Amino acid sequence: MMKYMNKTWWKEAVVYQIYPRSFCDSNGDGIGDIRGIIGKLDYLKRLGIDVIWLSPIYQSPNDDNGYDISDYRAIMQDFGTMDDFQELLEEAHKRNLRIIMDLVVNHTSDEHTWFTQSHSDKENPYRDYYIWREGKNGNPPNNWGSWFGGSAWQYDEKTDMYYLHIFSKKQPDLNWENEKVRREVYDMMLWWLDKGVDGFRMDVISLISKVQDFPDGKVYQGKYGDLTPYCAHGPRVHEYLQEMNREVLSKYDIMTVGEAACVTLEEAKKYAGFDRGELDTVFQFEHMDLGNGKYGKWNDAPISLRKLKAVFEKWDKGLDGIAWNTLFWSNHDQPRAVSRFGDENTYWEKSAKMLGTCLHMMRGTPYVYQGEELGMVNAGFTDITQYRDLESINAYHDLIENQGVSEEKMMVYLQKVSRDNARTPMQWDDSQNAGFTTGEPWIEVNPDYKKINAKSQINNPASIYNYYQKLIALRHEKDIIVYGDFEMLYPESEEIFAYRRKLEKEELLVFCNFTKDTQQVSMNIKGFHPLLHNYEEIDFPNLKPYEAIVFEKNI
Ligand code: GLC
Ligand code: CA
Repeated sequence: MMKYMNKTWWKEAVVYQIYPRSFCDSNGDGIGDIRGIIGKLDYLKRLGIDVIWLSPIYQSPNDDNGYDISDYRAIMQDFGTMDDFQELLEEAHKRNLRIIMDLVVNHTSDEHTWFTQSHSDKENPYRDYYIWREGKNGNPPNNWGSWFGGSAWQYDEKTDMYYLHIFSKKQPDLNWENEKVRREVYDMMLWWLDKGVDGFRMDVISLISKVQDFPDGKVYQGKYGDLTPYCAHGPRVHEYLQEMNREVLSKYDIMTVGEAACVTLEEAKKYAGFDRGELDTVFQFEHMDLGNGKYGKWNDAPISLRKLKAVFEKWDKGLDGIAWNTLFWSNHDQPRAVSRFGDENTYWEKSAKMLGTCLHMMRGTPYVYQGEELGMVNAGFTDITQYRDLESINAYHDLIENQGVSEEKMMVYLQKVSRDNARTPMQWDDSQNAGFTTGEPWIEVNPDYKKINAKSQINNPASIYNYYQKLIALRHEKDIIVYGDFEMLYPESEEIFAYRRKLEKEELLVFCNFTKDTQQVSMNIKGFHPLLHNYEEIDFPNLKPYEAIVFEKNI
């Protein structure tokens, strides 16, 4: 069994994502920081996770909360100092926790010195670090729309040219065609690896290579064209990643996960194929995009369970033996898992545990987004002034002013899918501001913190936190959970998510009820015993609302 023999630590690991700004504030300025994270390492160790993915902590003017970097070799002042970071790394390593960094190299901040140089005149040696083009008859070089709204080109009066920004105008895209840019990036990566970091989550890495003749894109909605076909998985992306692998990644025992925006199965095999010499894994987003509609992500349509399962099945089957999968319900760009796929009310606790079961018993490396282990729910903001996220605020204006969406409807969309839903402060206890800060938090705390907080869950054996602890421990105990084959059961069911795992003589059966009603399944479980379940009593083949059961074969 070749695949099974190919054991690596990152296949067996559970990763926990920290969004530092909202995790824990140690000095009362209302912003989470590195010392705050250090203080919570024991909490993470107790949960049982192996790897921490830190969203960006580099120096940044925070147009996009750190995803706009102005110095790759400095720590954001709000978050602390390089000494704090070194201490975090040491303290994590002492506890056998690894740390992977967010690597944001599709673009920089417009305040990065490379850009201020590049911007200063056409002859500057840094000019070609970014993507500058002439306009056409007083218009931008083409019709591309930025993913954060408006044109993807920003006019610069000084040199009478435009620069490309797929994201905000404060996030100019780097020109990866320029060998010097690639060398700068690789040197910076080596610098962090030599400090001892354990890998990278690579931000929108699928966008780094652009089709060089910059044709107009197709207009679907509004006035701008779609740049995706010319920027996602562009002509040289695999060449660049192979080069990065040769020059940097292959020299260290690290893990990499590429945020592969718009990735298809075929492309994923190239990014993460075992024999490709590129990345270890990628994040795909098909299951996140199932709710999309006419206005892209801004929608409130329910998600079909059948389709959701089909996506998971497709990715498991498609990558089987070719590349390693990743599993996640949420991150800092997505709404909260319970709010999206479970129930925030009567079945809050049951559905949070059910979702954990469903994801953690599958094959692939699971990611837990901060607060998910407590069942944290969406922000529930009712006023646009409560939002901080530039994507949300830009979309609010764009959809209402240019696309005929009513303000009421837009507020519903934001409550469903705004990125701020997952960015409210981590809920540590029931004291003021949920114990996140003694000051004024940069974004409002979810008012439900008296009910949902870490302190009330850590010592409660029936809590969601304790349940996640069990899920993680089981993965560490049982190879079948990591390496076993996966087979979807009842693919047509709109109510039940069920599957079988198999490894040699061992077998697991997992049943998850995604509805508020009792459901019945027909399955002979002779020779199996229950390994984990989220209700005290089980009544199989009946599955109570949001019930989850894992059966193990007696051998
Ligand atoms: C990625 C990040 C997101 C950010 C964007 C631009 O999608 O996850 O938070 O806004 O890239 O860097
Ligand atoms: Ca702080």
